[in-house]
Amino acid sequence: MMIESKALGSETVRSINVVFCMVIFMSWVLAATAFVSYDSKAILINGRRRLLISGSIHYPRSTPEMWPELIEKAKYGGLDVIDTYVFWNGHEPSQGQYNFQGRYDIVRFIKLVHQAGLYVTLRIGPYVCAEWNLGGFPVWLKNVPGIGFRTDNGPFKWEMQRFTHKIVDLMKAEGLFEPQGGPIILAQIENEYELVEYEIGQPGVTYTKWAAGMAVGTHAEVPWIMCKQTDAPDPIINTCNGFYCENFIPNKYYKPKMWTELWGGWLQKFGGPTPYRLAEDMAFAVTKFIQNNGTYFNYYMYHGGTNFGRTAGGPFISTSYDYDAPIDEYGLTREPKYTHLRNLHNAIKQSEEALVSNNPMIASLGKNQQAYIFKSKSGVCAAFLSNYDQKYSVTVRFGNGRYDLPPWSISILPDCKTETFNTAKINANGVRLRMVPYSWGFSWESYDEWVATASDKGSFLVDGLREQVRVTWDTTDYLWYMTDITINEDEGFLKTGKLPYLSVASAGHALQVFVNGQSVGNAYGSYETPKLTFGGRVNLKAGVNKLALLSSTVGLPNIGLHFDTWNAGVLGPITLEGVNDGKWDLSQWKWSHKKGLEGESLGVFSFKGSSSVSWAGGSSLAIKRPLTWYKTNFETPGGNEPLALDMISMGKGEVWINGQSIGRHWAANKASGGGCGKCTYIGYYNENKCLSGCEEPSQRWYHVPRSWLKSNGNLLVVFEEWGGDPRGISLVKRTV
Ligand code: GAL
Repeated sequence: MMIESKALGSETVRSINVVFCMVIFMSWVLAATAFVSYDSKAILINGRRRLLISGSIHYPRSTPEMWPELIEKAKYGGLDVIDTYVFWNGHEPSQGQYNFQGRYDIVRFIKLVHQAGLYVTLRIGPYVCAEWNLGGFPVWLKNVPGIGFRTDNGPFKWEMQRFTHKIVDLMKAEGLFEPQGGPIILAQIENEYELVEYEIGQPGVTYTKWAAGMAVGTHAEVPWIMCKQTDAPDPIINTCNGFYCENFIPNKYYKPKMWTELWGGWLQKFGGPTPYRLAEDMAFAVTKFIQNNGTYFNYYMYHGGTNFGRTAGGPFISTSYDYDAPIDEYGLTREPKYTHLRNLHNAIKQSEEALVSNNPMIASLGKNQQAYIFKSKSGVCAAFLSNYDQKYSVTVRFGNGRYDLPPWSISILPDCKTETFNTAKINANGVRLRMVPYSWGFSWESYDEWVATASDKGSFLVDGLREQVRVTWDTTDYLWYMTDITINEDEGFLKTGKLPYLSVASAGHALQVFVNGQSVGNAYGSYETPKLTFGGRVNLKAGVNKLALLSSTVGLPNIGLHFDTWNAGVLGPITLEGVNDGKWDLSQWKWSHKKGLEGESLGVFSFKGSSSVSWAGGSSLAIKRPLTWYKTNFETPGGNEPLALDMISMGKGEVWINGQSIGRHWAANKASGGGCGKCTYIGYYNENKCLSGCEEPSQRWYHVPRSWLKSNGNLLVVFEEWGGDPRGISLVKRTV
């Protein structure tokens, strides 16, 4: 091919040869000692050089009944590897008490992946971030004496090591690592730690070295990775996370260039619009990475799924973790993304032998056009032809052929002749999935949660205000703060009628204020600013007035520094302005605290608990009343389409099906602001580029897993904090 010889001088060829010999030597050294090894151009599995295509599916974000089909779809979509984090707080909900059942049956999940003939990348963390409650840390860790999270701290390192060993030992016992004949080819320790290391300095540097040594010391016998960790010590591979990674270079020449998180969408926040990323743009990002010597990439997420129960982190991460992934929250393929990427994967696989052999030769095809040509020793050839121009399509000449390249696109020629794929030419149908109402007009009954009082069982009185999570230990979203405000007859406002102004500052995340049993309003923070202040005039009478504040958390933070000291709840100041003294500071008064809701302690969301209280129906049904529980029964719809609840008529709270929580609902929290204009695949992507759902509820539909249903007599329970009309709730089918 003419272009090749023109593009490369003899010096360049010589240096490529030297590097190639070193690569071969390193790969021989590594391959001799392990079944899974690597060099700069490939991951080697039992000596076979691979370019691996991976996708994240987090096992607790779907049900075990969904797993086989998700894995099948991932395989058909062209993946070689399924990547998952390990969710410490799901596996060890209280210290030393382990849970590997149901959605946390990680062994079953990995075995299913194995049966499908795919590999696994196990990202143990055990800090995982992942928009998961407290980044995966069990809340009880905060109570370990002397603990400091993610730093050179003895108690923390001891717990982290204990859990890491627990997982590695479990995998070994089940024979799940590749050298044992299992599917796990790679393991990850920590997650994007360099950002923290940069902030905290030396203790962070020491901790990184310790974490690396500790991981290798588990003798998992597969290569370990650290993502976003430039100083990852050998033999750990440092990897890239981002929207693009083509310019990433590993910290040693003999390490493979790996992309552990290719963000193919972005997280959904309560209060935010829905981010999406176009298939052409994702394919372009992948192809650029591959032509720049990428050896492994992982879609984050390939199936995002659902943050069931109270597993969402944030705070303010929604219950849906759909992520605009190729397989949607409900397990259906999202088109044209799924098929376009599948076609890309086929083209990459056809080119694999050439890609893993040698560095490419690069030739110019025009001002903004290039060719990357890969050749194996045996002469197999693959070429990538790119057009970086953001406006114009061009026709380029390459070899004996002519190729049409749309703007901002790359064509793959697995035999250096035939274009089998172009990143901007979609050869798939844009099938639209819709939510089709199936049943509504449920027969609802209501049960009033009462506004807590200081004499309630479980209340305790202290001077001042307590931090929320240190009272609840996150066993519930809710904490009541209660105090008495005594108003003397001579207070001026009683005569003028100018009501005093109450101001309540909270560390987050949402707050509802009650005076003498009546709701006077609410306030809530946001993902960006979890703190909030409630302000409003309150109707106080002469004598004793009962002030009750219901503070709720909306997922504990999953990112940042100082997990050990992060606060939630009403910490003050709390002031009352417009009294004879001018202003009272209530923050240091005596405050009663009460953890959780009455309905929670009675378990009214379960069959047993719901029958222990009396419900009101018919004309006595509570409508738009804050703090109300609702229940109804429904039959399981026929067919096998995924199901969801349309919660459009409701405010904020939580939903249970047959006693299991499907997550927090908050349809009343709408996506603020604009930014939902048209979006094109051309040009660089970021999480604010392509948005939908502005001014609409951030999450309207809530996944009801079919496997949680009985054939009939299903119990649906909703807790509503703000006030809603349950008659507007419907069950919908997700249909093509
Ligand atoms: C990354 C992190 C992931 C996830 C992602 C955003 O930085 O490693 O766990 O949180 O951001 O979805």
